[in-house]
Amino acid sequence: MPASSAFRVLDATSDGAVARAARTSADEIIATVERSGLRGRGGAGFPVADKLRATRTASTLTGPAYVVANAYDADPSSPLSRALLQRSPELVLDGIQIAARVVGAEQAYLYLHPEATEARASVEAALARRTDDAVPVEVTLGPGGFMGGEESALLGVLESRRAMARQRPPWPAEQGLRLRPTLVSSAETLANLPLIVRDGPEAFRIAGTQSSRGTKLVTITGAVKKPGVYELAFGTALGAIFDLAGGVTGTLKGYHVGGPTGGILSTERRLVQYGFDELKAAGTHVGSGQIRAIPSTACVVNEAAQAFAYLSRETCAICVPCRVGTKRVGGILEGIQSGLGRDDDLPWLSELADHLHDFSLCGFGITSASVIRTTMKEFPDDYRAHISERRCPTGTCTPVRARRYETMAQP
Ligand SMILES: Cc1cc2nc3c(=O)[nH]c(=O)nc-3n(C[C@H](O)[C@H](O)[C@H](O)COP(=O)(O)O)c2cc1C
Ligand code: SF4
Repeated sequence: MPASSAFRVLDATSDGAVARAARTSADEIIATVERSGLRGRGGAGFPVADKLRATRTASTLTGPAYVVANAYDADPSSPLSRALLQRSPELVLDGIQIAARVVGAEQAYLYLHPEATEARASVEAALARRTDDAVPVEVTLGPGGFMGGEESALLGVLESRRAMARQRPPWPAEQGLRLRPTLVSSAETLANLPLIVRDGPEAFRIAGTQSSRGTKLVTITGAVKKPGVYELAFGTALGAIFDLAGGVTGTLKGYHVGGPTGGILSTERRLVQYGFDELKAAGTHVGSGQIRAIPSTACVVNEAAQAFAYLSRETCAICVPCRVGTKRVGGILEGIQSGLGRDDDLPWLSELADHLHDFSLCGFGITSASVIRTTMKEFPDDYRAHISERRCPTGTCTPVRARRYETMAQP
């Protein structure tokens, strides 16, 4: 179903939804959100009604909550929140007001990347125009860097600490900012609330798949004619997504779905629907909302090595599986890329992916396993050419190491 037949968050206004929400009980609003099936747009797809309810329950028991609108755009190549705030700032602010009323918040924060200067100007101008907001909204900046967008790290940043993840539970809904109940929701998620309140849950459910309703902002990058931020209907097939960006340039090798921690799928997966559960079943995730068209000239071993070079720089390093795992995976991939690979590198990479996935403290390490698992599964020939034949299948890799990356534990 094309995005145009669903309601959209880009260039949208909510036409009195805040006033309508003020006349509706919090429980009723939560029930409406639940019927809509709205899932968090920040990447993981957590049911929004459950988070609203948990935060409201905690604030009823312990006092006022906070709302934090996550508009950080951790993936520098996927500026979704920036586009949204530039094109629909009022919608996000209306969503914050509705969420604040539902969870019992007296203060809200809109959390931005420090480089999002135009989005910041847009939202500050919108805030200056608004005189009826029941809850003050403070625009606040993160530190830069990928981990600045992770919810527990960003709560630390708001408390003047480094962007490092925290152990959960307790979840932010119960003990978040300054140990108060806190709703952390992406700006895009919040932008959907006024539309659901205005049009009702059924209208929201028109577009999408069984698992994922409504629309999703995505950034289409790579080998396409018009890269940029677009709004698609959940359920769009991966192979059709690039039409939104004017079509592909040349022949594709695959789709990198989900940003830096996202999996790379071969074009045989062109019919996989874009949705939380559908992507998970295919080995990747919505993540940062980036979908990159990878040209047939690219080597997937190089793609994986580049991803892990980035991840091993951006890890917050607080937990061992990710701090050590990202470095080891990056080093092994560089070795393979450099013609120094061995057959036993492959089971070792699989084992490291399992460790990242099973034992990491936050979504960064957990989801980064997708890069290893999908590239090894979907593009075995690229690995085989590098390891068995000592050649890059596309002739694009240049050696980056003179010696193998050995670890004490490697068989
Ligand atoms: C490394 C990392 C970076 C993240 N960056 C963002 C971000 O830029 N924006 C965002 O909304 N969520 C981001 N998230 C997800 C948040 O942790 C959190 O789940 C989300 O803000 C919750 O909002 P939602 O329920 O509306 O999805 C990131 C997660 C990880 C692991
Ligand atoms: S998984 Fe990585 S980014 Fe997340 S807490 Fe552990 S070290 Fe930090």
